[in-house]
Amino acid sequence: MILRTYGRRKGRRLRPFKETLIETLLPSMELRLENNQITGQDFDLKKHPTCFFEIGFGAGEHLALQAETHPGTLMIGCEPFLNGVANLLEHIHTKSLQNIRIYPGNALELLPLWLNTSLDRIFLLFPDPWPKKNHHKRRFVQKDILTLLSQKLASTGKILMATDHEEYFQWMVDQVQNHPDLVIQNPLAETWTTPPDVWTITRFQEKAIKAGRTPRFLWIGRKN
Ligand SMILES: C[S@@+](CC[C@H](N)C(=O)[O-])C[C@H]1O[C@@H](n2cnc3c(N)ncnc32)[C@H](O)[C@@H]1O
Repeated sequence: MILRTYGRRKGRRLRPFKETLIETLLPSMELRLENNQITGQDFDLKKHPTCFFEIGFGAGEHLALQAETHPGTLMIGCEPFLNGVANLLEHIHTKSLQNIRIYPGNALELLPLWLNTSLDRIFLLFPDPWPKKNHHKRRFVQKDILTLLSQKLASTGKILMATDHEEYFQWMVDQVQNHPDLVIQNPLAETWTTPPDVWTITRFQEKAIKAGRTPRFLWIGRKN
């Protein structure tokens, strides 16, 4: 049984234009799982020397910015929430982005099949905090999943995690510090509120700021 770390898959009914994007644009960039293999139209990992991977891209604004900023890098986005997928497709359509592939589902289904040591960046931005104690087991950040991420990360690759949930942030720090293969690259607390160089305020970050919460960022690498 694969862990489900997300809530709903469907929200408000899609506008007709977004429905059309799901029907016409998604098939050309969708990744699928068939017989334990990752398939997709014109999908060839070897064509791209670098690859970034975003888990739970939400409305897709960050992945679209990364794709625009790094046109030679392959961007993989996983998101089971259909309205979010439609939103990313709108960015792709508007900006004519060519370097994104989408898995419209659980990243934990795709990641185990991914090539080891191949991801230059893994983004986990404002993951669901599952704040109640009896829901902590649904948190994305936990030992076995960190092990999976460390296996997929290139030797010089980095994981970026962000959250506005204070207790989850401390949890992230603890989980990484206790992990044998990973190391926090920005251990000083004064660096935690500095956003990355390539950055756009995501929808969840915006909500956090409006509610007076402070987003914090953690950079993680592999111990060599
Ligand atoms: C709180 S939202 C944040 C969205 C976005 N990153 C942002 O900053 O606006 C968390 C997102 O992660 C997605 N998610 C949670 N678990 C996931 C998983 N295992 N694989 C892919 N997406 C996941 C959820 O569907 C949701 O859209």
